[in-house]
Amino acid sequence: MSDVKQFTYDELNEHKTRDSLWLTIHKKVYDVTAFLDEHPGGDEVLLEEAGRDGTEAFEDVGHSDEARDMLLKMYLGELKASEFAKNTTTAANGSAQSGAPAPSPVRFLMPVMVLIAWWVYRQYFA
Ligand code: HEM
Repeated sequence: MSDVKQFTYDELNEHKTRDSLWLTIHKKVYDVTAFLDEHPGGDEVLLEEAGRDGTEAFEDVGHSDEARDMLLKMYLGELKASEFAKNTTTAANGSAQSGAPAPSPVRFLMPVMVLIAWWVYRQYFA
């Protein structure tokens, strides 16, 4: 059976209200409209993830297996592969997506600090 529906973020974005609320978790698309009033975590958090990738938000909470089973009832289809790169969770500010994150300055400074400490040590004990 290859009857699975494929969705784009444009389509998801047409369902961002209480009357029809879709979101995607782990590249699967769910209709959570009927679940809004039942969600133990409240409706606000679901509305916030409307039309975008809620994977991180969902996983951060550490949802139970029971919660994961509930998703089966809300399943609509898959997110189109061409949409995977568009992670709308953070794209709201319009910043360009540039592959790897910038290296932390602390990681860069660490070897320099070790060298300075070694040099100071030598000044006193050499
Ligand atoms: C449609 C997907 C979701 C389902 C089926 C779902 C289901 C559930 C269930 C059953 C619980 C009770 C605890 C548990 O069994 O883990 C729960 C709690 C919670 N959920 Fe969700 N959830 C969904 C999405 C989200 C999202 C996107 C967020 C965003 C942050 C979220 C935030 C929370 C929070 C904060 C709690 C804890 C509530 C508390 O204990 O006070 N959930 N959810």
